[in-house]
Amino acid sequence: MPKKRRHTTISATPGEQTEPPQRRRIRRKILHGHDIGTSNETIGAGSGTRVPVSRRGTPRRRRILDRYGWYEVRAEGGWTSTRQGEAWNLATNRRRTQQEGVLAGLNTISQELEIVDPFTAYGTDTSGINVVVIGDIGRGKSSWIKTVSVLRQLVAGRQVVVLDRKPQAGVGEYTALATGLGAESIRFRIGGAGACLNLLDPAISRGGDHDYGLEGVVPAGQEALVLAVLTDAMSRTLDEKEKAAVGAALAAVNTYAHAAGREPVIRDLAMRLLDPEPTDTIGFGSRWNQRALEWGVEPGLALLRLADRDLRGLVDAPTSPAVRDALETHPLVHFDVSALPTDGPALRVVMTAANTWLANRLAARSSRYQQTILVVEEGWHVAGGSTGEVFRANLKLSRGLGLSTVSAFHHPADQPSDSPARALMAEASIVVLFGQSRADDATETARLYRLPAGTEDTLMQLGRGQALVKIGSRDPFLLTHIRSPWEIALTDTDAAITGEPHPAPQTEPSEGSGS
Ligand SMILES: Nc1ncnc2c1ncn2[C@@H]1O[C@H](COP(=O)(O)OP(=O)(O)OP(=O)(O)O)[C@@H](O)[C@H]1O
Ligand SMILES: [Mg+2]
Repeated sequence: MPKKRRHTTISATPGEQTEPPQRRRIRRKILHGHDIGTSNETIGAGSGTRVPVSRRGTPRRRRILDRYGWYEVRAEGGWTSTRQGEAWNLATNRRRTQQEGVLAGLNTISQELEIVDPFTAYGTDTSGINVVVIGDIGRGKSSWIKTVSVLRQLVAGRQVVVLDRKPQAGVGEYTALATGLGAESIRFRIGGAGACLNLLDPAISRGGDHDYGLEGVVPAGQEALVLAVLTDAMSRTLDEKEKAAVGAALAAVNTYAHAAGREPVIRDLAMRLLDPEPTDTIGFGSRWNQRALEWGVEPGLALLRLADRDLRGLVDAPTSPAVRDALETHPLVHFDVSALPTDGPALRVVMTAANTWLANRLAARSSRYQQTILVVEEGWHVAGGSTGEVFRANLKLSRGLGLSTVSAFHHPADQPSDSPARALMAEASIVVLFGQSRADDATETARLYRLPAGTEDTLMQLGRGQALVKIGSRDPFLLTHIRSPWEIALTDTDAAITGEPHPAPQTEPSEGSGS
């Protein structure tokens, strides 16, 4: 039997009956929210008539159904549509439409896949391409860099250069990764048993500019590099006379070596400063050219000391073929500097020389637009001193060179607020913040990147492999870093502590490698 519908009625009031029809229509529209003839509900137009409007009746609760629990809350879920479900997810951001770039993991809140890629974020989300990773010891910084900034970037066709500082089982911690990919590990050792990167390599132009490079993209040249190394070695800034002597001697040794068909080295420069030719100082004028022959004595002695002791075999001989051809032989270039002492100038000089060499090589071929990533873990080794200034100046050219520098730090609160390391941290466009256990580090991190109030607590609660990521102007988001089985084996750094090494990675990525 068809269900009966209840009807409510709208009647015309006595006043309405005398009203002109036009006014009555307007009044009804204001009072009842609809006009005669436009409503879905049919209302008779005639004055004084009772017009039926259909309404659904209140459902009645039936006892029999009640007895069988029909009206109880169900434990299992019910089907709904995406349209209805939307209302439950009010706090979730709009789904991002970006599809390009390397995947980093899952958004911890929305469970969506997140892309963290400086090259694809540039222009829309960021105005720079440098990345900083900060977090406590053992939180997963290196694992992130090895996967998101190295392995997956190689798959995306980028070149990656790693300055590997941290020893693990007697070699650099990226050695397993390089071996897994069939790339040569180029080891630097004091004394000449390892590779050498000539401080005066012809690839590093004297003034930093290159014939076919992009206009305005001028990385540090030989002169800036030598002056920075000397400033650090002599623990004082060089005066104008010394700088002039270094410049003149550098020009002379370059000309001489070029004529002889070989590379100049810093020993040549040291000897030229100590024992200059009268022609070297002609440019200073007849009044000064004799006296100028004396100006280079202290820088000359300092360079000789570096070549004989602290930097012996590292930067004082022609560049090794492995280094010279590194960019052409494999997309991953692994410079293993883990054997160099952290005290003394060797580590910083080699890292800055490698950075300057790379910047010059890229500047010379910048018209080819190869996107390159430079990984520098433990970033404060390159941040300090005059060599650090050279490094940071090169960093500022990242956009012109297509060179994204990824550096890692821990304990930001330990760095003085005016320190170069802080400056390096502050200049990054993409920041990946892993967990902090110390409140002062969490507070300092939040302050450094102007994160919303309360972020300190979030940073202190993050587990291993979880990070707060800030990409340029985008709101920060929580990310769970995801690794494939192959990546897990390659990024394990606990073996030395647990004594249980992961199975050795195969040369070819196993099925399901996550890139
Ligand atoms: N997403 C993750 N999930 C679970 N474990 C992880 C994750 N990422 C890294 N780990 C593990 O945590 C350990 C430490 O990781 P990693 O070496 O990357 O830390 P780190 O922050 O670089 O440490 P350090 O400051 O000492 O260099 C590794 O053995 C790694 O396997
Ligand atoms: Mg690490």
